[in-house]
Amino acid sequence: MWTLPRWDLKYRLTLRIGLVSALCFAAICAYVLFDIDHTAHVRNQRIAEITARTLQLQQNKLHWVNSPPAGFPELDAVAAAAMVPGLCIAYRTIDGAVQQRICSGAEALAEHPPAAFASVYAWLFDPSRAATQPVQFRDRQTGEALAWLTADVMTADAWRELSRLLPVLGTALLLLCVLAHAAMARALRPTRLIRAGLERIAARDLSARLPPFDLAELSAIRDAFNQLADGLQTALAERSDLTRRLIALEDDERRHLARELHDEFGQSLAAIRALAASVRHSAARDCPDVVGECDTIALTATRMMETLRGTLVRLRPPDIDELGLAASLEGLIAGWNRRQHGLPRFEIRLSDGIDRVPDGVATHIYRIAQEALTNAVKHAGATRVQLQLALGPTPGHGASTMTLEVGDDGTANEAGSRSGFGLLGMRERALSLGGEMSFAAGAQGGSQLRIVIPLVASPQSETATERAA
Ligand SMILES: Nc1ncnc2c1ncn2[C@@H]1O[C@H](COP(=O)(O)OP(=O)(O)OP(=O)(O)O)[C@@H](O)[C@H]1O
Ligand SMILES: [Mg+2]
Repeated sequence: MWTLPRWDLKYRLTLRIGLVSALCFAAICAYVLFDIDHTAHVRNQRIAEITARTLQLQQNKLHWVNSPPAGFPELDAVAAAAMVPGLCIAYRTIDGAVQQRICSGAEALAEHPPAAFASVYAWLFDPSRAATQPVQFRDRQTGEALAWLTADVMTADAWRELSRLLPVLGTALLLLCVLAHAAMARALRPTRLIRAGLERIAARDLSARLPPFDLAELSAIRDAFNQLADGLQTALAERSDLTRRLIALEDDERRHLARELHDEFGQSLAAIRALAASVRHSAARDCPDVVGECDTIALTATRMMETLRGTLVRLRPPDIDELGLAASLEGLIAGWNRRQHGLPRFEIRLSDGIDRVPDGVATHIYRIAQEALTNAVKHAGATRVQLQLALGPTPGHGASTMTLEVGDDGTANEAGSRSGFGLLGMRERALSLGGEMSFAAGAQGGSQLRIVIPLVASPQSETATERAA
């Protein structure tokens, strides 16, 4: 479907004002042409009336005076008094025969009207039409007096008037457009501030507020904007707070569950295995038939212990303090590669010095990596997942940052297309460390998660690091 090009509002309004003004000016021109024609016709009508009266007088004289005037009709007397360039007067009998006609010559036209104007003017006004007045003798019409201006003269008159008017109206139209554009540019200047404010909000800078404006409409927008930003800021702060608490609760719960499983379930399994070994020992001597069952019990307990160990690793990150972040992440990747039997293939790339990051940061990074890898397996259907963790200086303030990137080559779904806790939790973990997170379609397809966390020098990050620790 045809749509209007995306023009600046000022240009669009100026164009509309220009079009409306041009229509008004065209109406003015039409009125002027109409007035010229009407005035000429009224004058012709007056001349026709004078001519008719004169002719009636001549007819009366012919009838009553014994020595009649030279002839009838005699239009010279009227012509002498009323003639103007291009005017014709005539007498037409009741049979339609023109008995006498006198036309005054017109000076050669200095400027001929364009042919297009002449034909439009002729079509609209019929400039050569004559004004008529009946000539009567003894209450009987004997003929009629005619008066008209030649079409060339009428058209030239109209064109002269129009060509005087057009430059004035053209200049007025131009001035009007320029002034309207300037006035609108001035009135709409605050919209730039509104747009900048909206862009800041879109970039998650919720501290953006608009200053007061003079225009009532813009002031209403400003009030609504500021209220919205206040509301959004409060809602997001509450959501962040809630999410942080949930993360803390989840971590606590996982730790608690892991401890319970390890201390209760793990001990019980170890006891079952020890018991099975002891029963087997006795059975080998007294009842060899049940030795097989004892072995099965011991094997089942061993398998359950292995499963429990895997669950414990997922529930509680390995002791990063002892192992270090690099080894923990490598273990995580190796675990996924083992579980998935090589499809998808998980790769890891770590820069030097990763183990020097504070424990609190390391635990969050580990949890983020864990969720990102799970998502890649769960949602992307990827064949290759890459995890990169790098340390480097932050451009601008020279402080050190840690950048975690997890990319896959699977199907990219828009973040938030389905609500889950994973992305939200990752973002909150990053924010709680004073960092930021982005999740978008990767340049080579698939999805790319990127988290940048400042490690030192920025007061926000120091606080975050201390808080995390
Ligand atoms: N690597 C990825 N590839 C494709 N889509 C993804 C990826 N990661 C996340 N998504 C999309 O983002 C949505 C939200 O992810 P999120 O981790 O927040 O929730 P979830 O995994 O569905 O549930 P939860 O993590 O709470 O168990 C997912 O449902 C999915 O559509
Ligand atoms: Mg998830």
